[in-house]
Amino acid sequence: MALTIPIVAEGRQAPSRPPGAHGPGASRLTSLPPLSVYVHVPWCVRKCPYCDFNSHAIVGELPERRYLDALRRDLEQALPSVWGRQVISVFIGGGTPSLLSAAGVDELLAMLRACLNVLPDAEITLEANPGATEAARLRDFAASGVNRISLGIQSFDDAQLKALGRVHDAGQARAAIDAAQKAVARVNLDVMFALPGQSLDGALLDLRTALSHGTEHLSLYHLTMEPNTVFAKYPPELPDDDTSAAMQDALEAATAEAGLTRYEVSAYARPGARSRHNLNYWEFGDYLGLGPGAHGKLSFHDRIVREARLRNPDSWMTQALAGDGSHLAHGTQVEQEALPFEFMLNALRLREGVAATLFTERTGLPLAAILQPLQAATRRGLLDPDPTRLRATPLGWRFLNDLQEIFL
Ligand SMILES: C[S@@+](CC[C@H](N)C(=O)[O-])C[C@H]1O[C@@H](n2cnc3c(N)ncnc32)[C@H](O)[C@@H]1O
Ligand code: SF4
Repeated sequence: MALTIPIVAEGRQAPSRPPGAHGPGASRLTSLPPLSVYVHVPWCVRKCPYCDFNSHAIVGELPERRYLDALRRDLEQALPSVWGRQVISVFIGGGTPSLLSAAGVDELLAMLRACLNVLPDAEITLEANPGATEAARLRDFAASGVNRISLGIQSFDDAQLKALGRVHDAGQARAAIDAAQKAVARVNLDVMFALPGQSLDGALLDLRTALSHGTEHLSLYHLTMEPNTVFAKYPPELPDDDTSAAMQDALEAATAEAGLTRYEVSAYARPGARSRHNLNYWEFGDYLGLGPGAHGKLSFHDRIVREARLRNPDSWMTQALAGDGSHLAHGTQVEQEALPFEFMLNALRLREGVAATLFTERTGLPLAAILQPLQAATRRGLLDPDPTRLRATPLGWRFLNDLQEIFL
């Protein structure tokens, strides 16, 4: 999944001083963090009833030509903000990016390489749906430079897939895994649990089927009811909290037995297979977000800025093509007071946490700025007392929201 990145800055008051101006709220970074690029492709064959991502059922033809032209203008307008920086990873997410043609993905990656310094060994992920992934197209994506495929499997149970409104069945899911593993060395499978009417055994069977494909990376998501979705309006019968907690524990135990470590709230990997792109989000790295509704976080020596593109695909295309910056919904400097919470919100999602020194490296603030909340969290047994790391204890991991809120 592209992004389970909590965008905390949303809804906060924009700073009164314009982005870029120095002042008491400005942070001072001695070095800039690694930079990733996220590209949003907003179309799907059909809208799933549980999904609140910026994804839209295609009506007629996918407007690939117009989309790529708009993306080029979006990128060109963003260049001054990332000039000279190296790109460590690219994530083409959605939506359903595997609906793009092979030539379209080739053009997209060529455009990124032409304008940005994408490192030769950059991780380049493309999100694909089993209902839209012919083997030949995946091979072409790989030939264009995609070296990691993230497949939205969700379940291997045909009845569940139907209840989730998916366009694929279990047979197509298995075939897509096979095709993806033949096309690239690195494959992630998205699987959801706590599905309507699902039992503990049902969740474990889905996991065991996923593991039977020898996968190196799994994203296991607890199905959540999101506002403004069909499921929010017509809620299905879901497993109770005790059952879904038991599922979480059983899934973690079974993945560990298979050699995958739960390294983040929803992410499990074999050694060496962690997602570099997602790690960069959790380690409070930078990312340029391109495409409709994409969010970005960019650091400069004297400030950190968050930006968002217009969400509506048509509006974004029209405004990006206009070339006057009006495709940006907002760009605001993150206030110094907001940085500790934003940093901890991400870093504490990692099971191993982060080195304590990373706090200053990424925020420009001394660790002393969070001394009080650090002490409070440690006293409550939620934070590891090791002064060299910022890491949740097993208790803090279980009550992560409570721990994160201490840094608000
Ligand atoms: C942005 S979606 C894109 C993936 C791809 N379009 C697909 O669905 O196959 C990434 C993942 O988010 C997860 N997801 C989406 N909505 C969710 C929800 N309400 N609760 C939990 N996970 C969700 C699904 O596992 C999905 O594969
Ligand atoms: S296919 Fe993926 S992105 Fe599209 S609606 Fe379904 S869950 Fe959302």
